[in-house]
Amino acid sequence: MSMNILSVRGVERRFDTTLALQATDLDVAENDFITILGPSGCGKSTLLRIVAGLDHPTRGEVQLDGRRISGPGADRGMVFQSYTLFPWLSVLDNVCFGLRERGWPRARQLDVAHGFLAKVGLKGFAEHYPKQLSGGMQQRTALARALANDPRMLLMDEPFGALDHQTRELMQELLLGIWEEQRKTVLFVTHDIDEAVFMGSRVVVMSARPGRIKLDRVVPLVHPRHYSIKTSPAFTELKAELTEAVRAEVLAAQAQAA
Ligand SMILES: Nc1ncnc2c1ncn2[C@@H]1O[C@H](COP(=O)(O)OP(=O)(O)O)[C@@H](O)[C@H]1O
Ligand SMILES: [Mg+2]
Repeated sequence: MSMNILSVRGVERRFDTTLALQATDLDVAENDFITILGPSGCGKSTLLRIVAGLDHPTRGEVQLDGRRISGPGADRGMVFQSYTLFPWLSVLDNVCFGLRERGWPRARQLDVAHGFLAKVGLKGFAEHYPKQLSGGMQQRTALARALANDPRMLLMDEPFGALDHQTRELMQELLLGIWEEQRKTVLFVTHDIDEAVFMGSRVVVMSARPGRIKLDRVVPLVHPRHYSIKTSPAFTELKAELTEAVRAEVLAAQAQAA
């Protein structure tokens, strides 16, 4: 049994008259790869931002390793959909950023940064600037930067959402390969059900706003996973159940808006 590292307890987030999240509970075990699905506007980003310490619950509490989260920290690495690289820094210096903040000697920063750049397939791009890179390469840089800090958890909010289909599939395989090697604990928001099942060790579905966890399933697929498992019976069966669950919530969200 793995130890729980993150616990979300009765978390609610209200924005003036809008209740974005209601009484949300989630336990995340060490080495879990949790994918989060739910209709647009149900509070997925709000939940992730609260775990990141970028937002605060109006009720309830989130603990990481038994300590209440009250702000951002190097123990949580973030990769969001919109590119969050520093445009004035090279790829290498983007990856070194957190290590430099921590006062590491330059040689050690470079050693770690080059290692992660190689891991994400950007060995030859260390001296490039973000605007010289494709979207997929920018997200690989963001991933290398997050991993270089050796965080307790990776928080990813639709990190591949803006990429074309082929690039997205390659990014999924890249991240999955890194996870299979390092078993980092991951919280990963996506609206892509295939992606949620392929990547996750557990998939949760959130209800229409105000969001809460509606369904929580362990993904019954072994590692290492090859993309061909997407046509296996276990994959398609879980995908069908999740498709139904998400669809019901998308319809509920539409009814709310009407
Ligand atoms: N800063 C904010 N101020 C007011 N309302 C917000 C704010 N952030 C999010 N919301 C609202 O909270 C709900 C959940 O938003 P969000 O977490 O971004 O959803 P998701 O990521 O699932 O699409 C939405 O109705 C959104 O409009
Ligand atoms: Mg969102």
